[in-house]
Amino acid sequence: MKVGIIGQGYVGLTISAFAGRFFEIIGFDNNALIVDQLNSGVSHIEGVDSSVIKTWIDAERYRATNVAAELSDVDLVVIAVPTPLSADRTPDLTYIDAACKTIGENIRKPVLVINESTSFPGTLRNFIKPSIERYSKEKVDHLYAISPERVDPGRGDYNQKNTPRLFAGLTPEASNKTREFYSKFCDQLVHVSSPEVAEAAKLFENTFRQVNIALVNEFAQIAHSLGISVYETLDAANTKPYGFMKFTPSAGVGGHCIPVDPTYLAAVAEEHGAPATFIRRANEVNLEMSKYVVDRVEADNGGSLAGKSVLVVGIAYKPNVADVRETAAELVIEHLRDRGAVVSWHDEIVGTWKGETSARLEGADIAVVVTMHDSVKAENVVSSAPYVFDTTGKLKNVQGL
Ligand SMILES: NC(=O)c1ccc[n+]([C@@H]2O[C@H](COP(=O)([O-])OP(=O)(O)OC[C@H]3O[C@@H](n4cnc5c(N)ncnc54)[C@H](O)[C@@H]3O)[C@@H](O)[C@H]2O)c1
Repeated sequence: MKVGIIGQGYVGLTISAFAGRFFEIIGFDNNALIVDQLNSGVSHIEGVDSSVIKTWIDAERYRATNVAAELSDVDLVVIAVPTPLSADRTPDLTYIDAACKTIGENIRKPVLVINESTSFPGTLRNFIKPSIERYSKEKVDHLYAISPERVDPGRGDYNQKNTPRLFAGLTPEASNKTREFYSKFCDQLVHVSSPEVAEAAKLFENTFRQVNIALVNEFAQIAHSLGISVYETLDAANTKPYGFMKFTPSAGVGGHCIPVDPTYLAAVAEEHGAPATFIRRANEVNLEMSKYVVDRVEADNGGSLAGKSVLVVGIAYKPNVADVRETAAELVIEHLRDRGAVVSWHDEIVGTWKGETSARLEGADIAVVVTMHDSVKAENVVSSAPYVFDTTGKLKNVQGL
């Protein structure tokens, strides 16, 4: 079977790597640089080993392309493109629409279309299917299904194989074919009663994380004002063997999922007249954390950061990845610069970002730790400045949340 995967980023390439063992994969991406890199056997995604891509290329089971016509003879197509927020922080389905256009204009025989991109309930039924039909010159009866992706890039213990996969087709035939596809490389498939349930479950999973992170971020501020350790208090609460799940405070949330998906849920809720005040407030609390961190740093440093050199340590949104999408470090840096600080950053995994390069881990007046990669030595961070503020809870004997 020939499988087209539209989008060769975190999600699409991960699927390509797993599915390549069983199917011939056409990895379609409109970024020519990524296509060239992949065809030379080099992966740009943490967690997808270049050797796997190279093995599938050598076995003629994988090819990346930005030529849409190469999708014309696939039997199944997976959509794995970004679903960001637009400038007014509402769901932006333009990438999905572009993927639908690619399918509609190039695939003229009936195939199974599976959406893995995260979006609000109703996207498959009310947006993807009509959009593909609109772009198709003649009527083609594709099958449609959703299987929201749950991959956590950089994670070792859970992957495509051992993470249960939700799915639902618009028809029983679509569901059956979707099960057949994923059962080759996923251990556990969970069929839900409608695509809307699968879409909503994915959004709720990440909203659950966002709300709990906001709660612990608010609690970090409460604990500080009470003069007690947030970490000791959380460890104490975590001794309860049931009914509690430990989340830890941070400078905010980042990545393509936690800052974005809850807003998709809130938007669709409000469109249907249901309040989403809790979700909206959680988002605000997380966004406000960067200001809280900088307020604390400023207060500890004589009430002014003007002219001080501040090194932000770790700008990726989480440890051990190079992903800077929606990273809280960006807001921390903005607040520091607004207050007159001379800001540089250190992150050897990210390397370069917004035209700036990673600075040496030394010689600053102040260091603010946003993300601690495993490769960074704690003692080097502690000695990088006379004052260190840690938002990760990983450093001893410094200031922090
Ligand atoms: N990154 C994650 O950890 C993660 C986890 C679960 C779900 N998701 C969801 O999966 C979807 C994809 O996210 P991602 O992290 O893989 O994004 P990504 O930015 O890493 O990759 C998307 C790729 O799609 C390509 N692309 C964009 N428009 C295209 C088009 N019209 N045709 C062909 N290629 C196109 C881009 O060049 C890019 O390489 C999103 O909906 C996201 O919310 C992401």
